[in-house]
Amino acid sequence: MSEQQQFDVVVIGGGPAGYHAAIRAAQLGLKTACIDAALGKDGKPALGGTCLRVGCIPSKALLDSSRQFWNMGHLFDQHGISFDKPRIDVKKMVARKDAIVKQFTGGIAALFKANKITPFYGFGQLQPGNVVSVKQHDGSTVELKGTNVIIAAGSDSIELPFAKFGEHIVDNVGALDFDKTPKRLGIIGAGVIGLELGSVWNRLGSEVVILEGLPSFLPAADAEVAKLAAREFKKQGLDIRLGCKVGGTEVKKDGVHVAYTDAKGEAQELVVDKLMVCVGRRAASKGLLADGTGVQLNERGQIVVDEHCHTGVDGVWAIGDCVRGPMLAHKGFEEGIAVAELIAGLPGHVNFDTIPYVIYTEPELAWVGKTEEQLKAEGVPYKAGSFPFAAVGRAVAMAEPAGFVKVLAHAETDTILGMHLIGANVSELVHEGVLAMEFKGSADDLARICHAHPSLSEAVHDAAMAVHKRAIHKAN
Ligand code: FAD
Ligand code: NAI
Repeated sequence: MSEQQQFDVVVIGGGPAGYHAAIRAAQLGLKTACIDAALGKDGKPALGGTCLRVGCIPSKALLDSSRQFWNMGHLFDQHGISFDKPRIDVKKMVARKDAIVKQFTGGIAALFKANKITPFYGFGQLQPGNVVSVKQHDGSTVELKGTNVIIAAGSDSIELPFAKFGEHIVDNVGALDFDKTPKRLGIIGAGVIGLELGSVWNRLGSEVVILEGLPSFLPAADAEVAKLAAREFKKQGLDIRLGCKVGGTEVKKDGVHVAYTDAKGEAQELVVDKLMVCVGRRAASKGLLADGTGVQLNERGQIVVDEHCHTGVDGVWAIGDCVRGPMLAHKGFEEGIAVAELIAGLPGHVNFDTIPYVIYTEPELAWVGKTEEQLKAEGVPYKAGSFPFAAVGRAVAMAEPAGFVKVLAHAETDTILGMHLIGANVSELVHEGVLAMEFKGSADDLARICHAHPSLSEAVHDAAMAVHKRAIHKAN
């Protein structure tokens, strides 16, 4: 055992939450170390966490590749472009994705170097007294003492007891790395990963069946958005079956047999070449805490923190997927920055009311703030204004007219309470709502802001005007 090394800040986990905390702490003049256990596909340490290695970035790379391919077969014809049958080289597509991952994970290592952050590659365990022992990949152990320790251990896929991950039954990691398009792809869970990765392989030719346990589709989204999304996904060939209870799986010669009962309670069997299980993720807290640290876990294995991400143990904080709140990279980014600033004596803060949510399907879904259903349940008086992309010149010129923008504002104060979007590029447009809500803006404010013509953002403008029944491009 080497001598204990002393730091102002020791971060456990180099994912979105951890690397943001480490970089911001270093910017603020704190001597910082960051420990990460992950290895890339090449077996070498790879910073950036789930997001850069097997999450946000690789999934978006495949979504973009598959979208280009889909557009060739389904959109280009409208523009008068024709060609022989398009072909997809899956190995090349995956290699492109791997190159992007390598570029970005390497980028974090370069940022650490530029900010003089000391990386440690191995598994970190918090000991009592703000000491972290790190079992490094070469077998050696080092001990780091932090005036502050920030736990950013992230999350892992939930594995169902009757569907163990292997060659045929996979989670996101396997589904980002198929070397050919599975002819039949089964998916358990019609959540974000199921819809995004289901879309990727559906566009490339898989017959995709998604078995969802709940009787309703995307209950967290605005009901009108979810309804239109379900219709669009069905048109694309995604077979989403709601209210299904999966009871077991068996890998046989002809594929994975999935036994389930459908919404009517009737026994069914689905046979697929690959089965992806995406039923949520669990905080990666296993083995993280030695006895006697005082840090508490809740019944879901998440580290218990207060609204400032403090664990209640002097100098110990926790952020990102391993604590409460949405499992989103940008939520982790903000918590990382806020905690580093709090440690440095600055007023760090995360506003959970303005965190945007995006599902990168086609059309994209995005929202911020409350849904109509939530406002009704809370008894908040509101007005709604919506506007369809079919009436937006730019969307029609792009041949992407599906979808709409809906603005929800308080009936008395006009303050924007939520914005719900479905359509092309709404992952970008949702930030108009985020910004307006951060500044406590009103629907009238948004309606009086000049928007470029022609642009997709005109749907936001007209939806804000529609709140007061003065949209220009539709009957109110
Ligand atoms: P992680 O990214 O999980 O990073 C934690 C890191 O800590 C890992 O590298 C892990 O190896 C390391 N670690 C854990 N324990 C230890 C230990 N004891 N010692 C040392 N190292 C340790 N979110 C979005 O906002 N947008 C998206 O588009 C999006 N797409 C996604 C797509 C997929 C397929 C998946 C699976 C997730 C996606 N997410 C997306 C979610 C996003 O990836 C996570 O919310 C985000 O990565 C969480 O960041 P984190 O830093 O908390 O944890
Ligand atoms: P999820 O929580 O989005 O969806 C899981 C789905 O599986 C739910 O609809 C749930 O009802 C269903 N389910 C659970 N158990 C089931 C069972 N036994 N049988 C059938 N259905 C079952 O989780 P998912 O898709 O695994 O993603 C994990 C997290 O990753 C998400 O919560 C999200 O925060 C993050 N993510 C974010 C993305 C984005 O921001 N675009 C993209 C991908 C992931």
